[in-house]
Amino acid sequence: MASTKHDPDSATSSAWVHMEEVHRAPEPEVLAPLIERARLGREERDRIEARALGLLAELREGQRIGWVNQFLQEYRLNSSEGVALLSLAEAFLRVPDPETADMLISDKLGDGDWRSHAGKSHSGFVNSATWGLVIGRALVGDRKQANALKRLISRSGEPFVRQAIGAAMRLMGEIFVMGRTIDEALKRMKRPEHKGFTASFDMLGEAARTFPDATRYFDSYMWAIEAVGAECDGGSTEDNHSVSVKLSALHPRYEVSQWGRCVPALTERLEALAEAAAKAGIGLTVDAEESERLEMSLDIIEQVAELPSLKGWNGFGMAIQAYGKRAQRTIGWAEALASRAGRLMPVRLVKGAYWDTEIKMAQEKGLRDYPLFTRKAATDVCYLTCARDMLAADSIRPAFATHNALTAATIMEWAGPPGGEGSKDFEFQRLHGMGEGLFEDLVREQGYRCRIYAPVGGHRDLLAYLVRRLLENGANSSFVHQLADEHLSDDQLLADPVEKIEAVGGTRHPSIPLPEDLFMPQRKNSRGLDLEDWRVLGRVTEGTAAS
Ligand code: FAD
Ligand code: 2OP
Repeated sequence: MASTKHDPDSATSSAWVHMEEVHRAPEPEVLAPLIERARLGREERDRIEARALGLLAELREGQRIGWVNQFLQEYRLNSSEGVALLSLAEAFLRVPDPETADMLISDKLGDGDWRSHAGKSHSGFVNSATWGLVIGRALVGDRKQANALKRLISRSGEPFVRQAIGAAMRLMGEIFVMGRTIDEALKRMKRPEHKGFTASFDMLGEAARTFPDATRYFDSYMWAIEAVGAECDGGSTEDNHSVSVKLSALHPRYEVSQWGRCVPALTERLEALAEAAAKAGIGLTVDAEESERLEMSLDIIEQVAELPSLKGWNGFGMAIQAYGKRAQRTIGWAEALASRAGRLMPVRLVKGAYWDTEIKMAQEKGLRDYPLFTRKAATDVCYLTCARDMLAADSIRPAFATHNALTAATIMEWAGPPGGEGSKDFEFQRLHGMGEGLFEDLVREQGYRCRIYAPVGGHRDLLAYLVRRLLENGANSSFVHQLADEHLSDDQLLADPVEKIEAVGGTRHPSIPLPEDLFMPQRKNSRGLDLEDWRVLGRVTEGTAAS
């Protein structure tokens, strides 16, 4: 079960205890201390808003050419058509046989009102895609008017629809992937559009189901580290490309119930990758995944960060998710660890990519409360608080991953100009296929750093990542989605998150009831046991043994 290596008096262990206090605490309680640290003075706010307005213009220009945003704007995730497309994308590319693929298309496209979207988008591509869907709908439906069309296409028939949809899904995937192999991706990073940017390559490994899968992913990460290292010209880790890794790729039982087994094995695997990255002179960042894995990941990261063999290498980093109630305390933990290990630790602050899954899982299990915030503005407030802490920390090298112009402008205000007196060194990060236009001028004209998270791999490993990107781009609450919404003014887009949260007293979103109130007023939901919490699991195991 839980590893026992923690010294209860160490700085990291005390941060750990404090993390538990907020894990599923009510939102107003968690947010109260964060709000004060995220609050802006009037003049500061004016400067940030002015800068954000400038960034908005650049971002809009950059997004104009991308059809994915326009596609997702047309097929919003709160429409049945949007949901149908998302579930099709989620499953289509891994359906092995054509008959099942046809049934899936029929099932997912059958009920949508595709015709109502025809010709609505500004993008010709989106409109053609809509017509493809109208035709697809006609073919799988049984309405009389579809018969002529069916006869017309009967020569190519269902394989035609299947292939067209397969091609559209692949095209969508390619927007978010830098290359099929690391060599291809490294080559693409040399193109003029990436001038001035560094990359963090991710081999799209996650959620290994078997040991052979985990070994295959481990080998691909090791190979990527060697290939990226070979490209470096010997500069510092912050000037070189880096590699990002998900621990769930490296072990098929990365679960709390298997802590005693997977944590030592993962520590060994991460250690091997970290030593290879240190030798190659590049950075290695551990991505943040599901909240139930946070404590295991910290246990693993702590052991690797303290390895004497890695002394002097400042490239070992981690990602922290601001949507999590434990985020600020995890920053405190990272600072304590890095300072104790005598190293600078790159920390990538993200808002978090698993929001929908987390909410759903907590509801399904009937847990006490959510491990993350339920209002977008609360996540923004927490992000700003964490950013302030990171900018003030001595042993953290901050990386701010965002495509949100207001968030980026606030960071710029707080950090000061690059190389300025009293300025704090940091880098921005963006995802490949997102945020184009936001950072180009900052990097090429103003001396800021920006790293592109660059997924590498084939369609087989892309699906989970693709679905997270579609959710992120398609969600009403997302900044890039709102940017394309003509009904929203710039003032609404750039509204202060602190003011928004204060206006509602930091309360939970009214549409997201506590898991136990899910079926109210009819009945209370049954309370589940959080077996992903090692404390609960320990008590249950002891109780079972005693009985
Ligand atoms: P915004 O539109 O300002 O924020 C969107 C985010 O707000 C959502 O993604 C979600 O986190 C949050 N949100 C939305 N609705 C709600 C709500 N109702 N309540 C509370 N919060 C809400 N994600 C990971 O999980 N792990 C990683 O390791 C990771 N690595 C990344 C690396 C890079 C370089 C980048 C750019 C992103 C990475 N991400 C990772 C994804 C990241 O979490 C999303 O890209 C990010 O949340 C988008 O934030 P934004 O500031 O661009 O957009
Ligand atoms: C994800 O895989 C980028 O790590 C982030 O969604």
